[in-house]
Amino acid sequence: MATLSSEEIYSIVKESLRAVGTSKAAAEAVAETTCQAELRGISSHGLQMIPVYVERILEGGIQGKAEPTVSTGGDNIHIIDGNGCCGQLAAKKAMELVIEEVKKNRVSVVGVKNTNHCGMLAYYTENISKEYSIAFMCTNTNPNVAAFGGAEKVLGTNPFSVALPWDKESIVIDMATTSIAKGKIYEYAMKGISIPEGYALDKDGKATTDANEALNGTLLPFGGHKGYALSILVEILAGVITGGGFSKNVFSLHSDISKQQNVGMFLMGIPIEPLMGEKMYKERIKEFVSIIKGSKLAVGFNEIYMPGEIEANRRKDRLRNGIEVNDDIIEKLKQIINSKKIL
Ligand SMILES: NC(=O)c1ccc[n+]([C@@H]2O[C@H](COP(=O)([O-])OP(=O)(O)OC[C@H]3O[C@@H](n4cnc5c(N)ncnc54)[C@H](O)[C@@H]3O)[C@@H](O)[C@H]2O)c1
Repeated sequence: MATLSSEEIYSIVKESLRAVGTSKAAAEAVAETTCQAELRGISSHGLQMIPVYVERILEGGIQGKAEPTVSTGGDNIHIIDGNGCCGQLAAKKAMELVIEEVKKNRVSVVGVKNTNHCGMLAYYTENISKEYSIAFMCTNTNPNVAAFGGAEKVLGTNPFSVALPWDKESIVIDMATTSIAKGKIYEYAMKGISIPEGYALDKDGKATTDANEALNGTLLPFGGHKGYALSILVEILAGVITGGGFSKNVFSLHSDISKQQNVGMFLMGIPIEPLMGEKMYKERIKEFVSIIKGSKLAVGFNEIYMPGEIEANRRKDRLRNGIEVNDDIIEKLKQIINSKKIL
């Protein structure tokens, strides 16, 4: 293991993507979101994704030089066409548009189509929430998940994130609508560890705890029919409404590497000021959090955390002490940088 600072992670990611001809803006967007994922401990969407993006860029699945274009359906409603660009670049553009509007105390909605995987959603929602706004984001992914009662891949892992201002940090809800993110199943498979029961079916539709069988079969939505309902919502907002791909029209990040994924995203910002002055919100959210965190503990627990709090604590620690990363991934990225396969 090596210990790297977030600045070192930023520059190794940026250089890797620049080495394969990615635009400066796209390389910086990926570097920034990867750093934040590593700082918050979301390693499934951190450095390990970079070789996947590099391969997709080299094979044409991600257009490394493409720029997203914006069309407007109203002052504060926009659609972004990613034109096959890095998902992080399109999502960052959407985030910036939302921020621009909420700063004017206006609700803002941005849909994104024709783009690729955007990494950890918390990066985008947390930044919007810093403008004293409620932030919502969701994105669809290629189908890996069965409908409730089904055994065929028709839904993505379809994550959503909501961030709300709290104290110095935001409350950040950020989750896949499966019991486990697909990236984490790859991690289990690489480590040879079983996945918990109820997370996946094998290729014949039978329940399995084998990570490799799960990768060949279907994942299940979390919480049975309830997670399934949320996944349907994500697919409609991110895919159907934006004009982007949905269900089987979204291509795999890992296997269809020469095809643009056709991912869609949906972002929304709601400024708090017009709902309630900042002072009153601060008092009320503080009171609410103290009720939750001060409630009686269950057996085996030492503390109640707000969503996103563990990740924010981890980020503080990693900013001070550095981030432990696997030597192999650093070696792989150095090889990419040295190969300089500029397109
Ligand atoms: N871009 C994509 O296509 C894509 C697809 C799937 C997942 N993802 C990302 O994968 C990441 C991981 O998703 P996940 O479903 O594994 O999330 P998770 O299960 O690790 O966390 C889900 C939520 O629960 C909260 N939480 C976790 N432990 C807690 C505790 N002890 N107390 C209080 N709150 C707690 C977290 O803060 C988070 O808000 C997310 O960042 C998501 O954006 C991205």
